[in-house]
Amino acid sequence: MAKICLTATVVVVALALVATAATLAHAEADNPEKVDKWFNGLSNTKRKTTRLHFYLHDMLSGKSPTAVRIAESTMTKKSPTQFGVVYMMDDALTEGPELESPLVGRAQGFYGSAAIESLGLLMNMNLVFTGPKYNGSTLSIMGRNPALETYREMSIVGGTGIFRLSSGIVTAKTYFLNLTTFDAVVEYNVIAMHY
Ligand SMILES: *[C@@H]1O[C@H](CO)[C@@H](O)[C@H](O)[C@H]1NC(C)=O
Ligand SMILES: *[C@@H]1O[C@H](CO)[C@@H](O)[C@H](O)[C@H]1NC(C)=O
Repeated sequence: MAKICLTATVVVVALALVATAATLAHAEADNPEKVDKWFNGLSNTKRKTTRLHFYLHDMLSGKSPTAVRIAESTMTKKSPTQFGVVYMMDDALTEGPELESPLVGRAQGFYGSAAIESLGLLMNMNLVFTGPKYNGSTLSIMGRNPALETYREMSIVGGTGIFRLSSGIVTAKTYFLNLTTFDAVVEYNVIAMHY
């Protein structure tokens, strides 16, 4: 019995190592042959679920803003929702709500006012992870963000690295908003399904 247990333990450890190696192997971009090999091996792979929690810092003011206005329409200034305005962002993602909290990645992409009557942003961004576990992997988000509502739900439409072939949901909730500068800290919960 003890021997069987030991064997089982060895097998489990070996499998864990293989799984870790497989995870690390696709944490960064591979060449097309490797991606193909990975893809062809999927038929007997179960989907995994990864949950992430972090804070996004959308900084419009100060010496080094991370979101900048890049376009607007002729009617934007007259519109109650600033319809047509577009911002490009490279926002920090941190473990805790403080900007000094450990960095887990960045949200790179753009958002714009896409609704005429009530505030509804179109978010189109890549979450680019830089922490030890998911370094180099990305999740692509596309969704509607009615930023004045408490909870906003957006879609994960894909991913790379560890998050290849992702689908899933992100939920955003404003943690802090400066009504003068519109600097915001937004809490994100992510549920990603991937292989
Ligand atoms: C993430 O990857 C980059 C590029 O390969 C590397 O320079 C950096 O040190 C890595 N960071 C961590 C936390 O592993
Ligand atoms: C909002 O930003 C303004 C300008 O930087 C600053 O004076 C004010 O203290 C901030 N308000 C809050 C609640 O942080």
